[in-house]
Amino acid sequence: MHALSLETYKLTKRFGSFTAMDAVNLKVRPGTVHALLGENGAGKSTLVKCVVGYYHPDGGAVMIDGREQAIGSPTVARDLGIGMVYQHFTVVPGMTVAENLLLARGKLPAVIHWKAVRAELEAFLQTTPFRLDLDATPMELSAGEKQKLEILKQLYLKPRLLILDEPTSVLTPQEADEVLGLLKQRAHAGDCTVLMITHKFREVAEHADDVSVLRRGALVASHAVGEVSAEQLAAAMVGEGKSAKAAAFVREELEGHEAGPVRLAVKALVVAGDRGELAVQSLSLSVRGGEIVGVAGVSGNGQRELMEALVGQRPIESGDVHVGAERFHATRAQNRRLKVRSLPEEPLRNACVGELSVGHNMGLRVFDAPPAARSGWMHFGVLRDKARALIREYGVKTQGEGAQIRTLSGGNVQRAVLARELAEEADLLLVSNPVFGLDFAAVAEIHGRLVAARNRGTAVLLVSEDLDELLALSDRIVVMSEGRIVFECAAAGADRRTLGAHMGGHGHAEAA
Ligand SMILES: Nc1ncnc2c1ncn2[C@@H]1O[C@H](COP(=O)(O)OP(=O)(O)OP(=O)(O)O)[C@@H](O)[C@H]1O
Ligand SMILES: [Mg+2]
Repeated sequence: MHALSLETYKLTKRFGSFTAMDAVNLKVRPGTVHALLGENGAGKSTLVKCVVGYYHPDGGAVMIDGREQAIGSPTVARDLGIGMVYQHFTVVPGMTVAENLLLARGKLPAVIHWKAVRAELEAFLQTTPFRLDLDATPMELSAGEKQKLEILKQLYLKPRLLILDEPTSVLTPQEADEVLGLLKQRAHAGDCTVLMITHKFREVAEHADDVSVLRRGALVASHAVGEVSAEQLAAAMVGEGKSAKAAAFVREELEGHEAGPVRLAVKALVVAGDRGELAVQSLSLSVRGGEIVGVAGVSGNGQRELMEALVGQRPIESGDVHVGAERFHATRAQNRRLKVRSLPEEPLRNACVGELSVGHNMGLRVFDAPPAARSGWMHFGVLRDKARALIREYGVKTQGEGAQIRTLSGGNVQRAVLARELAEEADLLLVSNPVFGLDFAAVAEIHGRLVAARNRGTAVLLVSEDLDELLALSDRIVVMSEGRIVFECAAAGADRRTLGAHMGGHGHAEAA
């Protein structure tokens, strides 16, 4: 088994009259980790989808080990030893983790010898940095766990060229280091070649050998990692002349002010998970106006169920939620009256209708209220103008407000939903991993908007698996582990190691 080389020659892809990828010549050396950078909508996913036969290019060629290959479908790619972890999840929702792993190989055999298979899967899991319950179904998994399953599925196939489209978006930095470290080790042993799309310069610096940059569908830079700085890469991404400065958010922008009255009060909340287990156990927390409370935790510790319960997508077993003085059920009317806005995980699935246009999706919150609806009529002109303004303001890359939202790049779907949710003044914002998949400039911008909302008096509950994000933005941090809040502290001056220990469920051991 040896690592494959990959070369593209003048690879081109058009969607209608729009050229998403323009004559790209990319060279990925065998046995290396190659990072691919670019702004949201630059054409990164389009490029790799063409390589694995998910899209059919309109021109150019793909060379594997120096030989031109017509890769007509992902199955052909798999037979060549090429694996891909997609940006959007592809696991089969109704099947267990074990079945999904087996299915990755192609079709399931008619007779499965479960005992032997389980032993093999358990042994395989031992060789990876991840622990997943083989009997869980993806419906029960958090975004982070699904991402791990996607990666595991590919590792299980032992590909000779592995392509990963933003594999670490919802992993903690430690998890990302573990998986990327493992991939680098396999690449340098000559077992496989790795091409990974990422928005994180740190991952490029620490784990990649080479790096290429796409801008507006064209390859604009390709370097050995040691020969290029993060500033140069950022400049290549956004183009000369534009400021590449998107300094990480600094805590100083958190205006010192007294927090206002309690906006969100959660008392003794109990929420069941998909299998009836207690995903959230007797959880109490409160968020005041003008305060950002960060919820830290390793994904899969009840954060998803907590958020779903708060936004009304999951029943509450006991306990209660108040917004202001009112018991909160997250109905449309209540959301509007109490000015509650939310951004859930996987917005394309949970907060959009993929087949509807960008404009309609942006109007989902307001289409039945004035001025879009007057005397029982919907005024599409109002929605359209509003959508156009939001698209401009949030820099959503789309062919127009009439394009189906599912045709947008991953980061642009996220931007569109954020634009909708942050457009109007909110008293309470409930957000989950808000910068998932955003390029560096957009990350700084969205962080700035969350802090601006807080400075204006909005109460913000921020669930994130990114501890750095929480440390930068929060006033207070609570740590969730196994459905409970196990630790709480002020974010200023908080110690990452202590937080990490509590996230791992070892808070007491460390304190002792
Ligand atoms: N099926 C499609 N139909 C129409 N346009 C598409 C389709 N797929 C992608 N595009 C367009 O092609 C461009 C590049 O999209 P792509 O998904 O490759 O971006 P990306 O670099 O992966 O961005 P991100 O970082 O946000 O994931 C975008 O403007 C997108 O709207
Ligand atoms: Mg993409």
